[in-house]
Amino acid sequence: MKIKQLSGAGGAEITEINLASADDRDIVEIQTALGKFLVVTFPDQDFDDTALAQFTARLGSFGNEPFLEGEATHPHVVAVVKEADETKRLNFGGNWHSDWSFLETPPSFTLLHARELPPFGGDTLFANQILAYEALSVGMRQLLEKMQAVHSARRPYGPQSNLSNKSHLRSMKIKTGPEALAEILQPVVRRHQASGRNALYVNKGYTIRFADMTEEESAGLLEYLYQHAIRPEFTIRVVWRTNMLTIWDNRAVQHFAINDYDGFRRELRRTTVMGERPIPA
Ligand code: SIN
Repeated sequence: MKIKQLSGAGGAEITEINLASADDRDIVEIQTALGKFLVVTFPDQDFDDTALAQFTARLGSFGNEPFLEGEATHPHVVAVVKEADETKRLNFGGNWHSDWSFLETPPSFTLLHARELPPFGGDTLFANQILAYEALSVGMRQLLEKMQAVHSARRPYGPQSNLSNKSHLRSMKIKTGPEALAEILQPVVRRHQASGRNALYVNKGYTIRFADMTEEESAGLLEYLYQHAIRPEFTIRVVWRTNMLTIWDNRAVQHFAINDYDGFRRELRRTTVMGERPIPA
């Protein structure tokens, strides 16, 4: 396996490995690389849905996919698609977020495999939330470590959301509804179960307010943290190639799918790995 770091904030491209025939030692090496780089890409992995599901299962149990319907033959595999004629429309994942942070046990890892790409654009940005946390002042870290925040799926998937009228993401099997109004408390700073390092754990997609505060009272500090969390020096950019697989650690990065390829089709397939209940700092 050859590992090349992608940016100062982490990320790595791993070559000279065929994931479909990876042995147990390879899996340990991949897990180690994920722990170090948080986002890893594997070019030239000719996966169909069965191979993607089989490889995912080597990293842990499948995660839950609320609001998304999987493929009929592979219920854990979700198609992420935007058609060429879906112009001036939202894309899936086009907001900074950590996957399903409104669940009691959000996924540890997400896997995304590129099937069809636009001739330019459609990159995915990641932001290292361990670096973001470590760059805060001691006083701010001490304050945030004691705090919890309310997360919910209501903005993207609630009954009043942009996705509920089907004019956006029409090529994806998305279910919106009142169940998206459920709220859960998560630590504002999350300790990574494997590395023990702390990461900022609020995101613009799903965080609603701080615990025991109103949305209005929370807005100023949350907005500061959202901007701080995505400072350029914390980011990693994945430039896709067909048949590339990317895996990221949702406990330590946020991500954002750039919607800059109107007029072209983009399709990837996605799975997740079940994570644990977030542990406070
Ligand atoms: C996602 O948020 O999982 C989608 C990312 C992408 O399509 O680049």
